[in-house]
Amino acid sequence: MANTETGNTVGIENAADLHTRVDELHQQLHHHAHQYYVLDAPTLPDAEYDKLFQELQAIEAAHPDLKRADSPTQRVGGKPLAQFNTVKHAAPMLSIRTETDTEASGAEAFDARMRKELGLSDNDAPVEYVTELKFDGLAMSLRYEHGVLVQAATRGDGEQGEDVTHNIRTIGQIPLKLSKEVPDILEVRGEVYMRRDDFETLNERQRTKIAAGQKGEKTFVNPRNAAAGAVRQLDPAIAAQRPLSFYAYGVGQISAIQNDEALWATHYDLLQTLKKWGFPVADQVSTAKGAIELVAYHQRIAQLRDSLPFDIDGVVYKVNSLALQQQLGFVSREPRWSVAHKYPAQEQLTTVLAIEVQVGRTGKLTPVAKLAPVFVGGVTVTNATLHNEDEARRKDVRVGDTVIVRRAGDVIPEVVSVILEKRQHDEPIFTMPHTCPVCDSAAVREEGEADYRCTGGLFCSAQRKQAILHFAQKRAVEVEGLGDKLVEQLVDAGVIKTIPDLYKLGFTALAELDRMAEKSAQNIIDALQKSKQTTLPRFLFGLGIRHVGEATAKALVKHFGKLDNIMNASSEQLTQVADVGPVVAQSLRTFFDQAHNREVVEQLRACGISWEEGEPVETANLPLAGLTFVITGTLPNLGREDLKARLEAAGAKVAGSVSKKTHYVVAGAEAGSKLDKAQELGVPVLDEVGVLALLNTSVTANTTETTTSEPVQGSLL
Ligand code: IVH
Repeated sequence: MANTETGNTVGIENAADLHTRVDELHQQLHHHAHQYYVLDAPTLPDAEYDKLFQELQAIEAAHPDLKRADSPTQRVGGKPLAQFNTVKHAAPMLSIRTETDTEASGAEAFDARMRKELGLSDNDAPVEYVTELKFDGLAMSLRYEHGVLVQAATRGDGEQGEDVTHNIRTIGQIPLKLSKEVPDILEVRGEVYMRRDDFETLNERQRTKIAAGQKGEKTFVNPRNAAAGAVRQLDPAIAAQRPLSFYAYGVGQISAIQNDEALWATHYDLLQTLKKWGFPVADQVSTAKGAIELVAYHQRIAQLRDSLPFDIDGVVYKVNSLALQQQLGFVSREPRWSVAHKYPAQEQLTTVLAIEVQVGRTGKLTPVAKLAPVFVGGVTVTNATLHNEDEARRKDVRVGDTVIVRRAGDVIPEVVSVILEKRQHDEPIFTMPHTCPVCDSAAVREEGEADYRCTGGLFCSAQRKQAILHFAQKRAVEVEGLGDKLVEQLVDAGVIKTIPDLYKLGFTALAELDRMAEKSAQNIIDALQKSKQTTLPRFLFGLGIRHVGEATAKALVKHFGKLDNIMNASSEQLTQVADVGPVVAQSLRTFFDQAHNREVVEQLRACGISWEEGEPVETANLPLAGLTFVITGTLPNLGREDLKARLEAAGAKVAGSVSKKTHYVVAGAEAGSKLDKAQELGVPVLDEVGVLALLNTSVTANTTETTTSEPVQGSLL
């Protein structure tokens, strides 16, 4: 389609036709850019878009008079500026009052204030609010005249900002021209921000440049910082390489109210109209009635916060009715009708007091920064992981450094970066010790692995402590009250060495420990007794076999029924279990092939640990036993999990990646590389109809032979 269109222009000689073609191209490119950047639903392949774009560029090059400021080719253009021009805002850019109480009660306080200001009594209906995200970026005012973007300005002091139009034009989500009927003068206010994935990509690129010795390049501390840097770039070509995004949340000056009718009566309608006009408005915008619903929104977004693709630092509440907003008015540059309700900051500055190396249950050595205590993400943090040697060196964290620590959700705190400008010492760069800091055994880093591991095994007291704690934790056999301090005491005092030793502990040995009251000693004895009655998945998980988490332990037990069956299964048999691949199978074999591990299991059984055993699933007789499937893309009717469950129930295994061992690939819409791989390897591909037919025939035929010898014709793609 685009090809013939491109072809057409070549022959256009007539000026009027050329004009028409330019208009067409503008219209098409604006439309597709909106589909792509704002709606995230492109309807044209990139290459076709590029062709249209190049056609317009070619016309503009040949006929400079046809190059217009609102042309889609003009997103990146112009020469670097010497400085920014100052812009006086037609309507001041206000800021919002911040609620100091970061708890849910902050929302209640705001609602109570609004009710009081509006003179409402307890009997009056709840006030309606619009609830929005508080984006962590930069406020921007976009001015459109007759539907064309003429100016973009930063907030500055609220009265005057900087003209950053040249950079803002590079943001694909911001329409250069509005296709709908809009007021002659329209200022849209919103936030320019950088998505987290774009930030990561940008920083990766910056690191490559730095590594290549390019002068003046640096990495950015966080997405907000990177966005601010990009917006205030004097060279638009550089700004264009810094991927920015935009969300609209309000308006500034607006000309004539059309047909004497207000454009909107509520803030919610205002946002919906902006969306209709082509501006990105966050999906999470909602309305809330009264304090209860504000609190619910605050909590819902708190849950969602870490899974959003961009940073927010809170939520914003705005009285919905514009009439009520007017009634409420302003106090010194801040509207009374709105408040920013923040979440506890997820990043803080602190200093590194030491870097220690901790030994995990499987011997993994983790460098950990010991920090001056800092309140971040709602808790006081004193340790932050540096993950591994490469990470510690890449971030170049040294003792004495000022660093940014981040704690998001329940994720363990980590050091984000070092503030190099503040470094005033000459401590050396971190290196990983080549011996275990606890037991002095050699620490080795296997080829291709990021981690060093202590080779001491159960000789290493750190590994022993971790193994015991892992076994005793709530998700395993659960020995209530047996925490890390107690295990540390018991192991260090030589009272216990292995997991079975726990069950040989007597009351006296426990009561003799420092700071151990008789009552607590008895509680531990009781808890140990109680933990003896357990389930096989908990026990198996508790053994701490590498790669065997709770879900895998459950799947193994479901499949094999009895512990002995699992201990004696071959790698081949183990991989028949859903979710067990060669790596997990190998790990299980390695564990159970070691006599001392089998000995631990026997001792625990001898101590009286017991569970109910089940019957193995007779998979060998199931119709699809021995067959491995891979599911990719979106199927018209079946959910992926649903199909997986049905295949597994028929004895098949569903794997995550395609290999020579895959028997069938089930492909739906937008299947990607897995489908390519299947075709490359000649693996049969089934569509939904095909796989259902296979499941149905296999159910009636009930033998693998029948199904495989009768391939379902017509269902292969
Ligand atoms: S409304 C009249 N809504 O927070 C209120 N601001 O001081 C004008 N911000 O710098 C702002 N998310 O950039 C509004 N959903 C949101 C926002 C938001 C982030 C920023 C804005 C401003 C600051 C408020």
